[in-house]
Amino acid sequence: MIQFPKSFYWGAATSSYQVEGDNANADWWPWEILAGKQRSTSACRHYELYEQDFDLVKSLNHNAHRLSVEWSRIEPREGEFSEEAINHYIDVVKALRSRGVEPMVTLHHFTNPIWFSASGGWAHHTSIKRFVRYCDFVTQALAPYVRFWFTINEPTIYFSHSYLWGMWPPQARSFLKMKAVHDHMIEGHIEAYRLIHKIYKDLKHEPPSISFAQHMQAIVPCNEDLINRYAVKIREYFYNLEILDRLTKAKALDFIGVNYYSRHLVHVHSWWIGNLLMETCKDDHHPLKKNSLGWGIYPEGLCHVLLNLKKYNLPVIIAENGICTHDDAQRWEFIQDHLKNVRLAMDQGVDVVGYLYWSLMDNFEWAEGFTPRFGLIDIDYNTQQRTVRESAKKFAQVCKTGLLE
Ligand code: BGC
Repeated sequence: MIQFPKSFYWGAATSSYQVEGDNANADWWPWEILAGKQRSTSACRHYELYEQDFDLVKSLNHNAHRLSVEWSRIEPREGEFSEEAINHYIDVVKALRSRGVEPMVTLHHFTNPIWFSASGGWAHHTSIKRFVRYCDFVTQALAPYVRFWFTINEPTIYFSHSYLWGMWPPQARSFLKMKAVHDHMIEGHIEAYRLIHKIYKDLKHEPPSISFAQHMQAIVPCNEDLINRYAVKIREYFYNLEILDRLTKAKALDFIGVNYYSRHLVHVHSWWIGNLLMETCKDDHHPLKKNSLGWGIYPEGLCHVLLNLKKYNLPVIIAENGICTHDDAQRWEFIQDHLKNVRLAMDQGVDVVGYLYWSLMDNFEWAEGFTPRFGLIDIDYNTQQRTVRESAKKFAQVCKTGLLE
């Protein structure tokens, strides 16, 4: 039997665009049409159904819930802030609080207002000022109800998918643009961090806890060749730690948010920088069980990733960890195995204070549409019927007791 502390935060995460539905002012909306992707349409209709969804959150014994606020609803046109939208999010965080659930709010989770993208998006230097102005408006309104903030979700995934690989809007393939987005997101975080703290101080609220959600992979050499071990070191820095180093040096993190899904197996055949940075094992030398998107399941990697964070000496929240699968028994196995590795890292001195499963419910998985099923709760997209899965019930017992068999 494994035990977690009484004070542990247990719950699940979502993001606005993936669950709310009908976010027609966000840049993903026209892009879905343009790129011929599955449309997000009304998604899980969570914008309307949040009360009912939070009843389920409560019934599953979650004491925390991570959600994101949708910038494109709040500021649909530049400088025009929607009272209706912000009041909606006030109601949302209050609905969590009234159920005894700690809201953890993300300010940017991949989507942008159309006007923002049309005027250069994150590649443009004005993005910092625009993002911080939006954060100012949201924080002033939500500060009385929110203590945990994530400024930006997975900057490394956002700038690589949107600006290097050309897979997500605006489908750029430019190292220079990617570098600009990287710099602007870091600066945007630092300025937002300082501003949010100042707002709480001015309002005489207890200081908030602010971080961002860092996508972290277990970077593993395929074999012990020097070139692979060297490539692991470089990638460990650029993929996982570089932004954390920058933000801890700037004293702009109160905790670390970790999103962990999978392993990255390094097998390099040339000392060229591109290979050192990107080449992976193509031959499936160390096969793993896979989720329905083909990502390898590697629970011990979570412990490995967490141990690398020890040097920062900050509390850690697992802000996302989950599996898409049509086999719910596999989901429960995934949760159990990953929680065991969280405990192992805690035993070795990493101060993990919470675990949020991705995701509360099945939702719109970006370019992959609605096929992947990540949810603790099944969604029937024809009827919007919610069905709690068995894995969710088992996880609920852990949330209630802090004990895992
Ligand atoms: C993102 C989520 C996404 C999940 C599964 C994370 O990278 O934050 O938005 O749904 O992974 O792909």
